[in-house]
Amino acid sequence: MTPSPVLEERTRVAIIGAGPSGMLLAHLLAQRGVESVVLESRSEEYVASRIRAGILEQSTVDLLREAGLAGRLDREAQEHRGIYLQWPEERHHLDFVALTGRTVHVYGQTEVQKDLVAARTAAGQRVHYEIGDTALHDLESDHPSVTFTDRAGRARRVAAEVVVGCDGSFGPSRAAVPEAARRTWEKTYPYSWLGILADVAPSTDELIYAWHPDGFAMHSMRSSTVSRLYLQVPNGTDVDDWSDDRIWEALATRLGHGQDGWQLTPGPVTEKSVLPMRSFVQTPMRHGRLFLAGDAGHIVPPTGAKGLNLAVADVGLLAPALAAWLVDGDRRPAEAYAETALRRVWRCTHFSWWMTSMLHTSGDPFDAQLQLSQLRWVASSEAGATGLAENYAGLPIGF
Ligand code: FAD
Ligand code: DHB
Repeated sequence: MTPSPVLEERTRVAIIGAGPSGMLLAHLLAQRGVESVVLESRSEEYVASRIRAGILEQSTVDLLREAGLAGRLDREAQEHRGIYLQWPEERHHLDFVALTGRTVHVYGQTEVQKDLVAARTAAGQRVHYEIGDTALHDLESDHPSVTFTDRAGRARRVAAEVVVGCDGSFGPSRAAVPEAARRTWEKTYPYSWLGILADVAPSTDELIYAWHPDGFAMHSMRSSTVSRLYLQVPNGTDVDDWSDDRIWEALATRLGHGQDGWQLTPGPVTEKSVLPMRSFVQTPMRHGRLFLAGDAGHIVPPTGAKGLNLAVADVGLLAPALAAWLVDGDRRPAEAYAETALRRVWRCTHFSWWMTSMLHTSGDPFDAQLQLSQLRWVASSEAGATGLAENYAGLPIGF
């Protein structure tokens, strides 16, 4: 039997990954008259229901507004003017508006993803979901392509002018850069987060980041009726060792239930998972006609709430750069992309490492004193507080 022919498709930009970076890039390119095809190994429902980030920095919200994607965000998201930093017997509010004039919004990645999918579906975006065997080809030539097996088991090829790897930390794009042409920087942390989603009104108006001798804890939220909370746990923790009662007890202790009359209200846990923590950067973020964006190029530990925001900043830079090249014939912004994007990547990598190192306990009493000293300085000095606020609420895109 002769093998069935490979189904050929043409586009200007082949985007691998339909997460937030891939779908937002497709949207921003379309607005500039550049058509694309998005290739995704999972189903549309799976990608939209992954519980991940929850905080959008100012420049992310600005970009989503400019892109016409913020209708529901503007109706439903909560705008926060700061965060609480705490340690035993102390809780301090950092007011980002007073310090930097910027705010953050609480709006889940699930919601950002739904809004992106709705906008791209309405515009007739070509997306292949549930594909397999994704492989990148001829990236150093001017006719790169991506091959894959579609949902029905047929072999396909998308020929493009540019390929963008938006395929997260486990996708094939990063490794498609030859070993001799890439460099990686990596740090793993000796702790993980146990995260829960609970059907209970948040016990706080703004997020609480808590240092405690038992380990870090955080109180976040998704809406006025859904809370999101995290606990520092050792690497290798089995989620089944943590009953709901044990989780709420640890949260109450670390978040200071009873301190100055503050109460943590527990509720039904609807999701529970353990997240390892890692810093990772691969350079350069461009090889030939392959560009990397979002988690495909870099991973940060979640403490600074930067992962999703960094993915948005990458594509906010890449979309106009590719349009300048493919529409106007000006290659310079695309050639500058890797270097420009990496400035922000390293800033966020440092900030995420710094927040993580300041708030997670290691068991070393000397380190604990340094952490407490740092926290007191951040909470009481305008210079210290402004540094945290400026990084957390986010620097302007292009910084
Ligand atoms: P992703 O969202 O990972 O999207 C990549 C897409 O590529 C996926 O849909 C994947 O299925 C697809 N893909 C992979 N391989 C292939 C292939 N071979 N072919 C085709 N498609 C492929 N950030 C925060 O700021 N705060 C948080 O609280 C937070 N929590 C997180 C919790 C978890 C468990 C994880 C994993 C991440 C979390 N992050 C958080 C990080 C944030 O979610 C990511 O930075 C963000 O999703 C990056 O978007 P992305 O589009 O670059 O990558
Ligand atoms: C959330 C996650 C973070 O990593 C963070 O720093 C703040 C909030 C969240 O999931 O809500």
